Amino acid sequence: MLNKHFPKGAKPLLLALAVSSSFAQADPLREILDENTLLIGSAMMTDHIAEKKFAEVLKTEFNLLTPENEMKWSYIQPQRGVYDFSKADKLVEFAEKNGMEVRGHALVWHIQNPEWLEEGEFTREELLEILEEHIKTVAGHYKGRIKYWDVVNEALDDAGGWRETIWYKGIGEEYIAKAFQWAHEADPDALLYYNDYSTEGTTPKANAAYRLVKQLQEQGVPIHGAGTQLHLISGDILRTANIAANIERHEELGLEYHFTEVDIRIQGDATDRALAEQATMYEELMKLALHYDAVNVFTTWGLTDKYSWIPHWFKGWDHGLLLDKQYQPKPAYHAVQAQMELKRDDKFEWQPPVRIATENRYLQAFVSPEAPQRPSLNNDASLWQDATYYPFAFNQLEGRDQRLPSDQEISGKFAVMYKGNTLYGRVEREDNITINNVEPDYENDSVEVFLRAGKDQPFVQYRAIVGQDFAPQGYDATAKGVWHDDGKVFEFAITPNFVDTLAGKTWGFNIALSDNDKAGTEHGQRSSQLYPVTGTNSGYLGEDFAEIFFPGQNLEISAIPFEIPYTFKAVEVQVSGEPGSYKPMDWLNTYHYSFAFNQLNRRDMSPPAQSDIYGSWQVGYQGNVLYGVVHRHDDVTVTNHEHDWENDNVELFLKVGEQFVQLRSIVGQDWQDNSFPGERVAKWSDDGSVMSFAVELPVETLAGERIGFNIALSDNDDASEGRKAQLYPVPGTNSSYLGEELTVLDFVR
Ligand code: XIL
Repeated sequence: MLNKHFPKGAKPLLLALAVSSSFAQADPLREILDENTLLIGSAMMTDHIAEKKFAEVLKTEFNLLTPENEMKWSYIQPQRGVYDFSKADKLVEFAEKNGMEVRGHALVWHIQNPEWLEEGEFTREELLEILEEHIKTVAGHYKGRIKYWDVVNEALDDAGGWRETIWYKGIGEEYIAKAFQWAHEADPDALLYYNDYSTEGTTPKANAAYRLVKQLQEQGVPIHGAGTQLHLISGDILRTANIAANIERHEELGLEYHFTEVDIRIQGDATDRALAEQATMYEELMKLALHYDAVNVFTTWGLTDKYSWIPHWFKGWDHGLLLDKQYQPKPAYHAVQAQMELKRDDKFEWQPPVRIATENRYLQAFVSPEAPQRPSLNNDASLWQDATYYPFAFNQLEGRDQRLPSDQEISGKFAVMYKGNTLYGRVEREDNITINNVEPDYENDSVEVFLRAGKDQPFVQYRAIVGQDFAPQGYDATAKGVWHDDGKVFEFAITPNFVDTLAGKTWGFNIALSDNDKAGTEHGQRSSQLYPVTGTNSGYLGEDFAEIFFPGQNLEISAIPFEIPYTFKAVEVQVSGEPGSYKPMDWLNTYHYSFAFNQLNRRDMSPPAQSDIYGSWQVGYQGNVLYGVVHRHDDVTVTNHEHDWENDNVELFLKVGEQFVQLRSIVGQDWQDNSFPGERVAKWSDDGSVMSFAVELPVETLAGERIGFNIALSDNDDASEGRKAQLYPVPGTNSSYLGEELTVLDFVR
């Protein structure tokens, strides 16, 4: 039910879509709430004011402006000591004429700096002088006219360490406190902020940003709040509870918290579905802003999709703002407007969701979105475009060796959706030989689906042998499975009778694809049983379940159905020879896993064909050293892309206690420099097919430890393009670099 996302009295989304061709009769955004409750802002470029429509819509809808570029160094101090305020002045005049506030952006940043600054070689003293002069001149120029300043922008790196900027390298971290001090001296009435991206939740970077403002405040530095940019991706699940917790801790310090650069980009076309997902996310952000007093600014990074930085910065992405390229309001606009109206009318009753314990959640749940309509089971792939396809990733039949077989032999992927209380699924299967007539049943080629509503609930294992419906089970549900296309496609519907709706629920789940290639034989003949998770093939005992999440109103996983035992395992190894050398004999006893999920493709995480790229990995330990081997099969090796991360490489994500690090080794090279403590080495075979590593970790011994973990294999096949695939052993949205979506590595004693 799409209108479930909308509280009573608000327009249901589909209706909103229908009327989205105009601003309708409702009030413009800036007129809904008084200025002390919430300012609604837009970034803009001065030159666009000349366009009548632009100026008109801007001043009608918004009461706060941020210069998208005009107050950055390259614009305002293009030559040393030569200031050019022409564009920025025009913008401030426009704001004043139209009763709008201004958020100045940004006094200190490491991007869009003039050449003289970038290229010049300055001593620490000179840099301090340059910075002081700039801040005092610029903030002084606008004294009394700019209410808010982003004083320092993006001082932290993705892991929450200091970003190695021109300022950090030249001055040290004190540049931050000094910048605030100078801005305050230049305009004592201006309110001053630290602004950054990926800081909205409780990731290591968000925690570091919080610690930074807290520390500045404790030192008596004039700082009034933090800004979080919120350049987000449509279709992602907002971690609302974490964002709420983060706002609360800022509120407790008496600081303001601004949403400074919101946009929610869409990959490919702006389909109705993508626009609806985007609207839901905007709505969720607006709810947070309305719920918390500390959030008194909500700014979008641009007025209209006609002028947005997104397509220039993110190839293939666009449509991130509230108004489309014709200045027409999108579903997101109506969603935001409806929430603001509820607040005005004293009908805003939303509460943030309860925060989940992320401990015990070792794996992202498989997400089963609500289907726009009930899908028929007649093999219409187009009905499944709103769901994500996940690969069958691990073979659980071979004990510790859980690698995928050759994709010439068997491979597959699945997608899930729900409507009401029905779970729908679609499996696509590529198999060279189909066996479906042997005894016992489970030795046949089949799809099995495992479900469990919660810890103390019964579980079910449904099996459909290729060509047949699910065999009946004593479970309070109706279940139907249909095969198509000679066993290439299987579609199913399972309706548990004991719930009215699956919306908002998290269930235990697993799905398996069995493959037997030897006709006429009996026991133990399957060559593989593939699951999307690792395990001991004991789903049939009600064990080794993964989770499936059915996003409801809050789009947030709010419960753990039962403790998921699922982890990756490292056993003790005796590694002989020099650190980083590889001897297959040392690794016989270890677990061996596939790189199976391509996290670069949000619609289909299954890996590319093995002829293009595939790989596997093994880890082990000795004392406090993590040892590992990566096996890589790649047709084209690219290592000369200008961005390190776009090259063929292996990345390792490790979180030990609160310490998080991302390590990267480009094919043929050692780990890149990183200030994380400990010794480490990575070595590649000459042909790039084997990489072995050793990483010392900040613990006494790893025996019995559990750490946050992920590992990725990146593949680029053309240096002029970006990566084609980044393969992980778990599903996710490629955000492990922020310390999120880590899985668990268990050091078996
Ligand atoms: C972007 C502008 O939108 C672009 O026009 C420009 O080319 C680059 O900068 N975080 C910030 C903003 O703080 O200043 C950036 O703005 C977007 C990311």
